[in-house]
Amino acid sequence: MTRRRALAAMAVATLLPGCVHQAHVVVLPVQGGRMHVPREPLAQLRGPADVLFLRAAGAPGPIALRRQGSQYIALLALCTHRGCEVQALPQSYDCPCHGSRYDLAGEVLDGPAERPLPSFRVVPDGEGVAIVLE
Ligand code: FES
Repeated sequence: MTRRRALAAMAVATLLPGCVHQAHVVVLPVQGGRMHVPREPLAQLRGPADVLFLRAAGAPGPIALRRQGSQYIALLALCTHRGCEVQALPQSYDCPCHGSRYDLAGEVLDGPAERPLPSFRVVPDGEGVAIVLE
């Protein structure tokens, strides 16, 4: 088994019921300031309503990853108002604490949050992608 396949096997993806195909992936390594996302979880991102929530030691918080066409958008899934974890909906990220809403690019739709969700660069990495955390 290659190292990459072993890491993919460590990733635990669970599809949650609801109108958005949301998956949580845990135990992703961060090396050299990059979080590698293997090909297998990426295959779950078939459209903009599909989301992966990625968690890894060394990451600043959960990272929401969506696909738009051939591009990936990675956002820190913590509300910029007071830091609650946002929930992914098909057309937005909503904060359950005080009602802030963000579009799929992380821009504020409704406050009280005033700043967008921080974004991360996503680059090709072997058969998957890497999210650049630095
Ligand atoms: S923490 Fe999100 S709106 Fe307050």
